[in-house]
Amino acid sequence: MIDLRSDTITKPTENMRLAAYHSNVGDDVYGEDPTVNKLEEQAAEMLGKEAALFVTSGTQGNQIAALTHCNPGDEVILEASAHIYLYEAAAFSALAGVQSRPINGYRGAMDPEEVKSAIRSEDIHFPVTSLICLENTHNKAGGAILPLENMQAIYQIAKDRNISVHLDGARLFNASVASGVTLKEYGQNADSVQFCLSKGLGAPVGSIIAGNKSFIDEARKWRKRLGGGLRQAGIIAAPALVALEENVERLTIDHENAQYLADEIANIKGVKVENKVETNILLVNVKGTGHDAVSFIDVLKKENILAVPFGPDTIRFVTNYEVTRENTKTAIARINGVL
Ligand SMILES: Cc1ncc(COP(=O)(O)O)c(C=O)c1O
Repeated sequence: MIDLRSDTITKPTENMRLAAYHSNVGDDVYGEDPTVNKLEEQAAEMLGKEAALFVTSGTQGNQIAALTHCNPGDEVILEASAHIYLYEAAAFSALAGVQSRPINGYRGAMDPEEVKSAIRSEDIHFPVTSLICLENTHNKAGGAILPLENMQAIYQIAKDRNISVHLDGARLFNASVASGVTLKEYGQNADSVQFCLSKGLGAPVGSIIAGNKSFIDEARKWRKRLGGGLRQAGIIAAPALVALEENVERLTIDHENAQYLADEIANIKGVKVENKVETNILLVNVKGTGHDAVSFIDVLKKENILAVPFGPDTIRFVTNYEVTRENTKTAIARINGVL
């Protein structure tokens, strides 16, 4: 089976399992887990932030950010196909009680002028705009990298109006490795940053949110309220430290394999790559095969290839550390064989 559904499906490496086994642990709700403390310190340092918090998932990190930055009844500006808006089960409204204000972007990037004009003025009829969310890389836009200049422009607008910026950087390491922009440069253009340890980095569990100390102190309380205060969490923080140590630079291989798939698919009749492949995601339009996304996925499954639907006629392929170049070659041969 060649599993191209996501970069979340990888199993922990032997080093990760060994690190979990040998981890030095304590009660993290008391702040006494040395491995979690190390992970949080290291993550904060990497992003150039004062502090960081280990959370159970990317979704939990994004929700804690909204709960910490906003009050119920506030409005949050975000891109119309942001993960937070499309794929987090309306948690912004269900949990933080905030209203989302979606803005159509280009390859995941909102036009700063449109963001500016969406910010509410003081009026008894209006909610308060308290947060702007960015996503880098942008999942629905096919792993598109948000240009640093775009982030800088939006961050400046937000600061002029005293609004917070949250970066959903579930795949921020992919963005950094591919663009050469450092994590700190990205971090400078957001008040809080969430990144996933369990995507391309390959850790079995967890995400980080980072920000200034007072933000993280309050976020820690929100994590507790949500039931995310874990005890001997070092057992899952240890493999996450291995992920940061061993799996950052190698993301380039995932990007090269995604590009290889895109280049080869361009030569196959009936299928078409929709996005400019910048990182580890490609969006493949299958309309020309006579199938829709769901039925084409069934065809692929019979050939031992797994993918997910990403639109009526679009399927998504994601590379990860278990997808070797050999696998991508086999996948292309199998797709060629059925078309
Ligand atoms: C951009 C983005 N943000 C957040 C998440 C949520 O992460 P998790 O699945 O860990 O909740 C995802 C998951 O795919 C994502 O792609």
